[in-house]
Amino acid sequence: MKEPINMSSNVVQGSVLWFTGLSGSGKTTTARHVETILREQGYAVELLDGDELRATVCKGLGFSREDRLENIKRIAYIAKLLSRNGVIVLVSAITPYEEMREYARREVPGYVEIYVKCPLETCEHRDVKGLYAKARRGELLRFTGISDPYEEPLQPDITLCTASYSIEHNGNDVVAWVNARHERRT
Ligand code: ADX
Repeated sequence: MKEPINMSSNVVQGSVLWFTGLSGSGKTTTARHVETILREQGYAVELLDGDELRATVCKGLGFSREDRLENIKRIAYIAKLLSRNGVIVLVSAITPYEEMREYARREVPGYVEIYVKCPLETCEHRDVKGLYAKARRGELLRFTGISDPYEEPLQPDITLCTASYSIEHNGNDVVAWVNARHERRT
């Protein structure tokens, strides 16, 4: 049976769609597309983007293992606050270590792991922000996929292949997943 997303006296837990994957894999692009569709469908949605949060509530954190973990803990905390009020939360952050994803799975009710899968060579070829080139030149240290590990998710709830399928195709898969679990508001 479908769960109502929100009833006046009884707010239902929102899902937290956690997009993990390499830099340039398409996490934010896909999440933004999903955000637009879900909003049009009447859901309350919020996107927590790693790059944006690192400029605000996670400002000052670097890319050591400890800092990355702290980054994820802060994002998980915000996701928890929003989702317990019925908001569907989309998180877009590399989340490279299994330990972090275990933390989020444990701490965040409604956690759904979405692995945005894309070969490193493709991400590097796209190099949207020019960061892979910098990492290769040694100007960026501890860069995920180059000089810091990305541990592949072992059992993601959803896997999206962005090298083989379009944003629309992948976005529809996620939207279908949400629609199957939550009733629309409108
Ligand atoms: S996470 O590892 O803590 O989950 P997060 O998603 O917040 O990372 O931030 C990753 C973004 O920071 C990348 O998309 C990229 O724009 C930028 N960045 C800068 N330096 C690095 C680095 N060493 N490794 C990965 N991303 C980096």
